[in-house]
Amino acid sequence: MIIPVGAPFSALETPCALVDLDRLEGNLAGMAAYAAREGLSLRPHIKTHKATRVAAAQLAHGAVGLTIATPAEAQVMSAVCGDLLLAYPAVGPKLGKLMALPESVRLTVSLDSARAVEELAAAAKAAGRTVRVYVELDVGMHRVGVTAWDDAIALARLVTERAPLEYAGIAFYPGHIREEPASQDAKLAALGVALRSAIDALTDAGFAPGVVSGGSTPTVWRTHEIDGVTEFRPGTYVYNDRTTAEIGACAWEDCAFSVLATVVSTSVPGQAVIDAGAKALGREPLRGADGEGWGALLDRPDVVVSRMSEEHGILDLSRTDWRPQVGDLVRVVPNHVCIVVHLNDVIYGVRGDRVETSWPVDARGRAHPAVAVEGVA
Ligand SMILES: Cc1ncc(COP(=O)(O)O)c(C=O)c1O
Repeated sequence: MIIPVGAPFSALETPCALVDLDRLEGNLAGMAAYAAREGLSLRPHIKTHKATRVAAAQLAHGAVGLTIATPAEAQVMSAVCGDLLLAYPAVGPKLGKLMALPESVRLTVSLDSARAVEELAAAAKAAGRTVRVYVELDVGMHRVGVTAWDDAIALARLVTERAPLEYAGIAFYPGHIREEPASQDAKLAALGVALRSAIDALTDAGFAPGVVSGGSTPTVWRTHEIDGVTEFRPGTYVYNDRTTAEIGACAWEDCAFSVLATVVSTSVPGQAVIDAGAKALGREPLRGADGEGWGALLDRPDVVVSRMSEEHGILDLSRTDWRPQVGDLVRVVPNHVCIVVHLNDVIYGVRGDRVETSWPVDARGRAHPAVAVEGVA
């Protein structure tokens, strides 16, 4: 079945994913303008949208390249971009898919261990391709990244000794900063001090980082305040979500993504049931913000999805006079958009209340190879 251009939302089978094209355009243009104003290289993380269509729009808006997290994302994004950063410390079979990227792709990998350097060096040598390396630092999130700058220096040195690897700089991710932007001063200051000391230590040792790559959506509009950063990698900003709005890192009107759902039951007083449950909305809590539920209605943010089964979402009507009918359509802004995008094959691009276009989430999944069972094609 084909959806005609200009169809109303009622033509779509729910639950399905909608992106408001005007809001998407606004988010793309806003970030491009910020990057240009502050002289920062924008290398957006595509894990949020996982779509070549949106990646191409980011590149058209001045992105210098793309950030990816998985080899499958690299494979798909190499069709639209020749400059990819794998912001993930890859070891093992992941490296095979990476080395098979088209030769024209300039590949950079961020990593934090000698083992990852050795494996990457061996794979790059076997494939005959240059791979650039960022040494990953932990500046407060405590997820990945070296915590001692002597270790960063040792890794940078090891990389320079392992041609065809090239030491290109350092990377960090400020994922621990999830306060509203105006309340981030202390954490940003601490991060800035840590980062400056790392840059100075590396520079003194002869490993001045050419690129200092950081950035996240909650901190994005303050990236220029972090001393030394040259490149930033926001991901969520492209669509935004309830968490980002609750933190105050975007306006509710900047939320471009929603899940279209149908009211399927109103039989229990005080609630309405929609056909979007955990398999459509994910089960991500609000992170760094107060608030309950698994998502809120785009047009009625006081109505939240308070409970979920796999295919049922319960709308709490206790804070509203609104009484929906079975068959009504609603749009839910999820708590964490990246997880929800990943649950969909197709995104519908909408303008106002009409469907204008669609695109595949073509970098979703892992593109794992099948087992070659004898006799089975
Ligand atoms: C390494 C890295 N860089 C950049 C990002 C983008 O962060 P955000 O989605 O907050 O913009 C992420 C998000 O998970 C990340 O893990």
